[in-house]
Amino acid sequence: MFPSLAHLDRYYNEGTRAYSDQSAYTEAQTQFQPNSATPCFDLTLFALDCEQVHTYTANPDPALLDFYMPGDNKILFCIHPQVLQTLDNDAYLRIVKNYGTRLQPLCVEPSSSTRTLYVKHSGLPPHAAKVHFPFKVSRYSRKMRDEVIEQAINVSHELEQSIPSLDTQFAFLREVIGVSIKKTALHDETVKTREQWGYLIREMTPFPPCPGKQKFLIPGFALYGTQTFNPEKKPLLLDLIDTCSPSQYLLDNIMFPIIRHWIECFLQLGYMLEPHGQNILLEVSDTGHIQRIVHRDLSVGIDMRRRRDRGISSDTCNMYNRMESGEFLSITYDMFMGHHFFEPLIQCAQHYFPDLKLMDFQASCKEYFVDFFPEHDLYMPKTIYYFSSKRDQFNKPLYKNTGKKPTWRP
Ligand SMILES: Nc1ncnc2c1ncn2[C@@H]1O[C@H](COP(=O)(O)OP(=O)(O)OP(=O)(O)O)[C@@H](O)[C@H]1O
Ligand SMILES: [Mg+2]
Repeated sequence: MFPSLAHLDRYYNEGTRAYSDQSAYTEAQTQFQPNSATPCFDLTLFALDCEQVHTYTANPDPALLDFYMPGDNKILFCIHPQVLQTLDNDAYLRIVKNYGTRLQPLCVEPSSSTRTLYVKHSGLPPHAAKVHFPFKVSRYSRKMRDEVIEQAINVSHELEQSIPSLDTQFAFLREVIGVSIKKTALHDETVKTREQWGYLIREMTPFPPCPGKQKFLIPGFALYGTQTFNPEKKPLLLDLIDTCSPSQYLLDNIMFPIIRHWIECFLQLGYMLEPHGQNILLEVSDTGHIQRIVHRDLSVGIDMRRRRDRGISSDTCNMYNRMESGEFLSITYDMFMGHHFFEPLIQCAQHYFPDLKLMDFQASCKEYFVDFFPEHDLYMPKTIYYFSSKRDQFNKPLYKNTGKKPTWRP
């Protein structure tokens, strides 16, 4: 009834990267870009000795564990072909090339984020490899540093344990195996400080499992994105709305659940989900009904103020993305969710239902937000924050106060 997630990710995404002056930028070679016509490409695979790598796990499916960590003192290591071809001076790449054993590559397809790759391997559960890709795509160079990998696995583990206390319409893609090269694998002392990198494995079956009838996964942007090979085709959103009231449909099935999940994850765990159109997947039944919202990408900001207020231990978190103030809360809620996702979604609906008013959606969402998060003033800034064009010493974009009043919350 709906195309596969890989197809939607790749070919239902034209025209959606218009939300910032950086969003259309990519340094990925054409054949590795998601909307290329290349059906798949080879992901290079090496076997390394266990002593050369850090490994992290969060309850992976045993078949994936057996494949990526096969025993016999070996661990598999995935490298994007663009890295292999162009990063000759990378000390860690040299380690892998000099000491690793090259194996048969994996056949992969790029997802919408470019550096996360769907692995096409029969006999293994559906999964993706999120790999080191130190080239700029949109605002960031897409590295997979050791601390980022470890933290994603920590977050996946904690989120999995928290499922019983979260909304029944909440699901996520677990990030279950992480591997990075150890600094001690470098024999040359002069390069010891370089960033260790690696990859992680994401299971593509939403968690918690929900057996039964066939379900489809639709990325948020695919609701309003133009189709690469069929640009005249009406947006998928119209098929989903079908004969329902468009405003009620959008609010009840998409916007309210996402707001609820964003608030719940913040209140319970201090996590800042990033619900833009690429990180949100709709789980849809074969009759076209939205069942759950599936969140992907666990590299979330972590608000330490909230974790202290809740009295939850942070011993299992490393230092990556720990935050002590609310700017990034505004970036994720006001900008990623409101501006980057909800606004183009509504704009698309308005094209077919001209009576819809952005302000009405915003008024309903504001009310909903306050009901679920009455103490929002304690954590969230009074104005909207976004990325500044300035960068810090690690080349991470700084935040700036836009001075504007929020529109998706009071
Ligand atoms: N409609 C869209 N909205 C937001 N990002 C999009 C969209 N379409 C494609 N993208 C791409 O998806 C990525 C979003 O960044 P984000 O940090 O969420 O993902 P990631 O960490 O690189 O990968 P993943 O989501 O696979 O974990 C960027 O590379 C961006 O260019
Ligand atoms: Mg993402």
